[in-house]
Amino acid sequence: MIISLIGYRGCGKSSLAPLLAEPRQWPFIDADRELEKRAGQSIAEIFAQHGEAGFREREAALLQELYRRENLVIATGGGAILNPQTRQQMRASGPVIWLQADVDTLLERTGQDPSTASSRPALTQLSPREEVEKVLAFRAPLYLEVSHFQVATSGQTLVEITEQIETFLQNLPENLTQSWSCRA
Ligand code: S3P
Repeated sequence: MIISLIGYRGCGKSSLAPLLAEPRQWPFIDADRELEKRAGQSIAEIFAQHGEAGFREREAALLQELYRRENLVIATGGGAILNPQTRQQMRASGPVIWLQADVDTLLERTGQDPSTASSRPALTQLSPREEVEKVLAFRAPLYLEVSHFQVATSGQTLVEITEQIETFLQNLPENLTQSWSCRA
């Protein structure tokens, strides 16, 4: 089984992944960092050299490989759910958790994160706030469609968010856990 964390840039996927992996003694993978490691380039450099489409191809190929593994927590990039095959693989592999946050929180967190410059190139020509509003509105139905559980993270501590996710994980319907343990 693979636990996937999804959601917009700055929603807390990378901070939460180790907190879910640690009690299970599973590894966690931050897909963006893994992609950068393999490419020997930052995400901003990949965007600059290959465009967003080139980045998305690399991202989907990496996730396709990761979803063949077992017992893993993956912090996906915010746009990973744009790929229909990735969405299908996520849901078929284990619980998918959408970390929601309001626009102010997302802007504050990404603004404070020193890795933003190298790993979060602009997705549009819009101002940062307009970009988050527009892109999030477009993606929200996809985040909802692919997720089994949603957590509103704004104003909550990592411990509080983790507790809610653990409660959900401990009460998973048996038919779902069985389908994940029987996957090829
Ligand atoms: C992206 C989100 C980023 C990274 C890339 C594209 C997006 O990941 O994959 O900059 O399209 O939302 P984080 O969500 O980890 O910041």
